[in-house]
Amino acid sequence: MMLKDKVAVVTGAARGIGLATATLFAENGAKVVIADINGHGALETARRLADEGRDAIAFHVDVSDEAAVQAMVDGAVDAYGRIDVLVNNAGVSINQLFLDTVLEDWRKVLDVNLTGAFLVAQRCARVMARQGSGRIINICSLSGQRGGVGRAAYGAAKAGLELLTKVMAVELAEKGINVNGIAPGPIDTEMARVIHTQATREAYLRIIPQHRYGAMDEIAKGAVFLASGMADYVNGHILNIDGGMLTAGLMYAFDQPPSKSF
Ligand SMILES: NC(=O)c1ccc[n+]([C@@H]2O[C@H](COP(=O)([O-])OP(=O)(O)OC[C@H]3O[C@@H](n4cnc5c(N)ncnc54)[C@H](O)[C@@H]3O)[C@@H](O)[C@H]2O)c1
Repeated sequence: MMLKDKVAVVTGAARGIGLATATLFAENGAKVVIADINGHGALETARRLADEGRDAIAFHVDVSDEAAVQAMVDGAVDAYGRIDVLVNNAGVSINQLFLDTVLEDWRKVLDVNLTGAFLVAQRCARVMARQGSGRIINICSLSGQRGGVGRAAYGAAKAGLELLTKVMAVELAEKGINVNGIAPGPIDTEMARVIHTQATREAYLRIIPQHRYGAMDEIAKGAVFLASGMADYVNGHILNIDGGMLTAGLMYAFDQPPSKSF
């Protein structure tokens, strides 16, 4: 019970990494606020957790809509009196080559992944600042750290979110708020199943030192750690959970060992 009685907002928790995180938070004693643009899915998640004896409520919210975000934060405070943790997880992804990136798609990806994360974090942080304590965990991406093909909009948004994480960590520390990020590598979610072709999947399996996709609950475990008392002195850190993918610098393919002679 690492999060007993903590109130945690998890955005994008109707499915995928957000759902896994909300579930593990609830299993660790947190009261969970499920916030998703998929209102039906958010309600389903909250109902399922309640059926298992957990404390959870749901909000239908588009994180890029300022009024809806404020209403969700007010609703969470009305229900539970405080907000201890935010997991800024809601995201959308597209794969478009830079030369083909359409302005409408660029705006949508930036709106949800960066502006949405900013809005939810700012409104939750105002509550946390009044309390004098809080934890914010931004779900970033390896795509924000490496120049992946097709990742112009998504990578730019996630790189922006990493920098935002660092600025928030510095500015909010004196208010008792720790801000960190998690940068997942390829995780086996519905999003990944849709955007990763067979060829992409095979290339990832070759390049990732652990030779597998991550599981959703492996991201959730990192979020529980960062939200818990185990991470009191962790601030402004980006925790890569990627099977070693960022670290790997491919010198030779494994099926092509370097020659012993020059
Ligand atoms: N799956 C991966 O391999 C991977 C890798 C790196 C980073 N990530 C990041 O992890 C997070 C979760 O990814 P996932 O794979 O679980 O995705 P997913 O598509 O399975 O789930 C995303 C959730 O966010 C919700 N959402 C989308 N737009 C929203 C909006 N405007 N307002 C509120 N909710 C919204 C969706 O309804 C959905 O429930 C995202 O931020 C994603 O960028 C995923």
